[in-house]
Amino acid sequence: MAVTRSLPVDVIKALQDVATVNLWPSDTPPTQPELIHFAQDATALICLLTDSINGELLSALPHLKCVSTVSVGADHIDLQACREAGVAVGCTPGVLVDATADLTWALLLGAGRRIVEANQFVKDDNWHFENRWQLNMMLGIDLAGKTLGIVGLGEVGQAVAKRAQGFGMNVIGYNRSPKTLAQIEQVSLDQLLQRSDVISINVALTDDTRDLIDEQALSKTRPNVLIVNTARGGIVNEEAMLASLNSGHVGGYASDVWAKEPVDVNDPLFNHERVLGLPHIGSATHSTRIAMANRAIDNVRKFIVDGTVRFSALD
Ligand code: DGY
Repeated sequence: MAVTRSLPVDVIKALQDVATVNLWPSDTPPTQPELIHFAQDATALICLLTDSINGELLSALPHLKCVSTVSVGADHIDLQACREAGVAVGCTPGVLVDATADLTWALLLGAGRRIVEANQFVKDDNWHFENRWQLNMMLGIDLAGKTLGIVGLGEVGQAVAKRAQGFGMNVIGYNRSPKTLAQIEQVSLDQLLQRSDVISINVALTDDTRDLIDEQALSKTRPNVLIVNTARGGIVNEEAMLASLNSGHVGGYASDVWAKEPVDVNDPLFNHERVLGLPHIGSATHSTRIAMANRAIDNVRKFIVDGTVRFSALD
């Protein structure tokens, strides 16, 4: 078995109990040729979302029968190619729900109340006696009584909704196949765009959701809407987002994820004054990352026993 990055020591031990483990010796991701060479004899591969598992890689790894990603998102894996090659694909749903929902709220509040800007204002020594408290200083948005629209009512979307109730927000949601959820009024995507004061994107990136929030979608939103993205950068058309921010229609974009990661430090969207940007840390808490690694191992352990993974990304 091949593992493309270091995992917690206990997790590795649990893996070594059941298989011969070949560990990539660095925290820098392998290039594709390096990965092909490294995993040449592997029947199972544990990877991260920064490893691209494409058709070319699969054809170059004839023994590979299982890919287990330490992530819930599987958009870095060509799922169709895996199906065709008979390769099982495991992922890690369930364990990063709260961490990601918490970070969604950190971004929502951070952008809505201009937390980073306010902190920088003081650090830059701009808070002086003459402006010690001003009626119009660092004004943000109210949340109570406002409408939060959640795009994608999976586990993370529902956890974001649960937190919204504590803030007194009305919650509406859009899911491609409507769900039975008592607390969330389900609406079409157009209605969600038209009615929401804040929009949270919590849907997986697939061919259907790529560029879901494009120029047309943004034109339907309320003036000054705040959009929060903790799902994947590719769901938002970043050019259209930048244009809408520049025109003053969208009021703010708070995002943990980018179409191309790592985002370029000079990227005009990332650097826009109304953008709060993070480096894909939605699931970055100690216990969540350990739980994700354990779940990825569980997938492989089960695969070794009966040829199927516990949490399949192919379902
Ligand atoms: C995932 O697991 O897909 C998340 O994006 C990691 O934070």
